[in-house]
Amino acid sequence: MSGTAKKRVFVTREIPSDALKLLKSKFEVEVWPEETPPPKNILIEKVKVVDGLCCLLTDKIDAEVINAAGEQLKGISQIAVGYDNIDLEAATKRGIYVTNTPGVLTDTTADYAFALLMATARRIAEADRYVRDGRWKIPWGLMMMLGQDVWGKTIGIIGMGRIGTAMARRAKGFNMKILYYDVARNEAAEKELGAEYVDLETLLKESDFVSIHVPLLPSTRHLINEERLKLMKKTACLINTSRGPVVDEKALYKALKEGWIWAAGLDVWEKEPTDPDNPLLKLDNVTASPHIASASYETRTRMAIMAAENMIAILEGRVPPNLVNKEVLKVRPPEK
Ligand code: GLV
Repeated sequence: MSGTAKKRVFVTREIPSDALKLLKSKFEVEVWPEETPPPKNILIEKVKVVDGLCCLLTDKIDAEVINAAGEQLKGISQIAVGYDNIDLEAATKRGIYVTNTPGVLTDTTADYAFALLMATARRIAEADRYVRDGRWKIPWGLMMMLGQDVWGKTIGIIGMGRIGTAMARRAKGFNMKILYYDVARNEAAEKELGAEYVDLETLLKESDFVSIHVPLLPSTRHLINEERLKLMKKTACLINTSRGPVVDEKALYKALKEGWIWAAGLDVWEKEPTDPDNPLLKLDNVTASPHIASASYETRTRMAIMAAENMIAILEGRVPPNLVNKEVLKVRPPEK
């Protein structure tokens, strides 16, 4: 030790041990011991004294928290690819570096999105309930629990970034026709996968499966609303593994209940955890899960290690590998 005090990092939840070890090798680390997020007053108390904050997407790091931070707070390292829970503008103004964990969760998330698509199309969760509830009476029913074929159908991918492209690769393996919509064309995906760029209206009208892979932004909030659900095929499935508020849940309920679309697979919700009384959960044509698309042992470890590496770079005065608010470099240039 050089004799100078170790920098301090507050971690808002228990994280995989390899990542914690890495952080502890450099810093004095405090971990919030509960499963639920630290309340705002705790966050405020911590940012007044720590040099780095390592957080999750369920921690609301708003302007109030950021503006309460002491001069010493240099970085916020989010363990997730999405960072809509952090007020980036407030962080940038204060010269605080914000990082995320892109790339390491791409394939795991796409695996899950495709599994949810399959489960929704072939009614897997509903079938499980059927067997367990003792409702399986006839040995083999020719017309029992019919679903939608997946192979050879058309998938419409909204948001052809890393995860959208990985989803398209899986769809190609099922011989699906791939349409996509994004704010910008992805020519690499067109070349690799034969994906066709269309406008959102065409995508919704022509797809048998619509899978959402956009970040939550003011422009994507309720992107899937009543009007757009009405454009979809009656046999279509909507799959959402991005952020809940991209879909208007009230409109989706109506669409599923009244048969404008056939089914939905939802890993993300407008409010998380969703209320057990959410009417969507009463519908058999909804396959539900609790925001777990990136939840594999390997990927969650990779994400936490990446977040630890980002934090180390920030606190050692370097530009971290996954800086999201690049303009911050003008407010507080790196020391190295
Ligand atoms: C999970 O939803 C993430 O953004 O990593």
